[in-house]
Amino acid sequence: MPRYSITTFGCQMNVHDSERMHDVLRCAGYTEAGSADEADVLVLNTCSVREKAEQKLRSEVGRLARWKRERADRVLVVAGCVAQQEGERLLKQMRAIDVVVGPDNIPELPGLLGDLAIGGLPIARTVFDLDAPRFLVASPPSPSSSPRAAPTAFVTVMKGCDERCSFCIVPHTRGPERYRPSDEIVAEIAALVAAGTREVTLLGQTVNSYRDPLGALPRAPGASADDPDESEFAALLRRVAADVPGLARLRYTSPHPRHLTPSLVLAHAELPVLPRHVHMPVQSGSDRVLRRMIRRYTRAEYVARTRALVEAVPGLTLSTDIIVGFPGETEDDFAATLSLVREVGFKGLFGFKYSRRPHTPALKLPDDVPEGVKGERLARLFEESEALLAAHLSALVGTTQEVLVEGRDKERGHGGAGGALWSGRTGRHEIAHIDGAGELDLLGEVVEVSIARANKHSLQAELTEAARAAARPRQRGGLEARPARRSLPVVAAEGG
Ligand code: 5AD
Repeated sequence: MPRYSITTFGCQMNVHDSERMHDVLRCAGYTEAGSADEADVLVLNTCSVREKAEQKLRSEVGRLARWKRERADRVLVVAGCVAQQEGERLLKQMRAIDVVVGPDNIPELPGLLGDLAIGGLPIARTVFDLDAPRFLVASPPSPSSSPRAAPTAFVTVMKGCDERCSFCIVPHTRGPERYRPSDEIVAEIAALVAAGTREVTLLGQTVNSYRDPLGALPRAPGASADDPDESEFAALLRRVAADVPGLARLRYTSPHPRHLTPSLVLAHAELPVLPRHVHMPVQSGSDRVLRRMIRRYTRAEYVARTRALVEAVPGLTLSTDIIVGFPGETEDDFAATLSLVREVGFKGLFGFKYSRRPHTPALKLPDDVPEGVKGERLARLFEESEALLAAHLSALVGTTQEVLVEGRDKERGHGGAGGALWSGRTGRHEIAHIDGAGELDLLGEVVEVSIARANKHSLQAELTEAARAAARPRQRGGLEARPARRSLPVVAAEGG
């Protein structure tokens, strides 16, 4: 049986696409190799959102040319956004590549590999499924399946993007918006929950622009018929909450602030399944820059909408994405971004230096902020956000929190006297490591902990007495706790 290996770069959508490639390849008779060296087929699932990510692919392919030369029948596949962006050009530029496959063509991968195996030429398949959009799902886990499904899972609700943010390549690499019927979404979540999943993250490039293509959702409370920014996302959240009562947490990423409408705020106020944390990319705090980025909201609108959310859900935290050094960004513009970070009080922030991308409207603007200035602004931004996070985390010391246990801590692993160290996330998405519970099986449980210490980016916690008394002891070997889906190696978030 041929063996394959997948390396993933980029966002959650790519992580999800890689999971689907695992499924598609396994169904076609491939087995997963222990390492790239043992693989017959190597897939690089790529990101092109910033130039640095794209360069990573190019250097990786350069490195893999040797791997390919070692055996004539080895196959190198490039998937994901660089594949979609470059298509056939990649085959010409880099001779080591055999197959280029776009995000919408994953089901065709085994067929392309089969053609190659019988002597076919290198091939690129990068066609959007505009007429009949496909949303791949994992082969449905059965309720009795052992091992259990992973505690957390991604479920795609839409793909593509109709926004035209001037810096962003995504409309080009992922195509126009296409939505998945709400019945399918609910069915997938119900099957996951029946098999043991506790938390689902709804995925989409602008996830909260969701509309049911079959028109099957009732209008959500608070939804205005004549607000152009209104969508059916709140209605979808309400339907999932009502139809899958066993779900512990329902997250979503990434939303656009434009669709943070009153109906979505109300859904947050009324649905306890929505966690008290939202990632809401703002990109800049300067109206002048927001306009040139074509973000379609002002700073004041962003502040008002997120404030309404925090007022509706006391204690809700926000995180964000910010680009520094966008063309024409002055020191005053950047100061406005810093002041917005303070004003909103983000508890998490991904910051990026502006990077010119092909096919984007901003290519027409001169990339006039020097690299050194971009670096210096990014450092100031991180300094600000680290201080906000540190203050937030230390204020949690001594409090009790509910943590969904996602797995064993990778850094400290199984070793040490305490055995496994469990880790997970609080309802607000803070990472929490649980000390001294190695003898218990906590995987997939929502447990009550008290916060003992704040680390730089996470919390150190202990089970409360009640939680300890209620927990299952871990069986020797611990295989019962292994999730069905692996956590994939992700090379992500270079932070500029
Ligand atoms: N340059 C820098 N950062 C970018 N992002 C998207 N496009 C670019 C670009 N051209 C950032 C945005 C987005 C995140 C996923 O990546 O902040 O929210």
